[in-house]
Amino acid sequence: MEMMMMMLVLVSAALMSPCAANPVRSLNLDHIIDLADQYNKTMYEKFYVEDVTHLVKSGCRNKFFCRVHDILKKHDRTEDKKIVRNLDVFFKEGNVNCTEELINVPHATTEKPIPFLLENLANCIRRRNFMGI
Ligand SMILES: *[C@@H]1O[C@H](CO)[C@@H](O)[C@H](O)[C@H]1NC(C)=O
Ligand SMILES: *[C@@H]1O[C@H](CO)[C@@H](O)[C@H](O)[C@H]1NC(C)=O
Repeated sequence: MEMMMMMLVLVSAALMSPCAANPVRSLNLDHIIDLADQYNKTMYEKFYVEDVTHLVKSGCRNKFFCRVHDILKKHDRTEDKKIVRNLDVFFKEGNVNCTEELINVPHATTEKPIPFLLENLANCIRRRNFMGI
């Protein structure tokens, strides 16, 4: 299954031109919505992480996904790992370089519980899908 996904990613990456103007809808992002829904809200309410509201407000762009990826990767729980893996594939698919995306993106000084971050993540993915970007 994992291998199959990798193959698909490699093939679709090969088919895309280097400056693909229309990234295809990402199945990996859709999968993240499911993962976010399954997350045990009661259990994770007490874990506070950096607030990403400012990046949601500026339009759910790649930098938002990059920052969420970094936060969850640092948090390093089993559920987070699945989301991080799906984001990794999404970045690879779209040739997103998070090092570059996050240059000059300030860190928020406020924190919010993890379920809030995941809700933002799911909402941003829905917004992307809706706008067809
Ligand atoms: C979520 O975690 C809490 C606390 O550990 C537990 O009481 C509850 O049953 C869990 N809910 C689900 C849906 O797993
Ligand atoms: C991403 O960008 C950074 C900074 O420009 C660069 O050093 C790095 O090699 C790039 N990574 C990839 C995978 O292209």
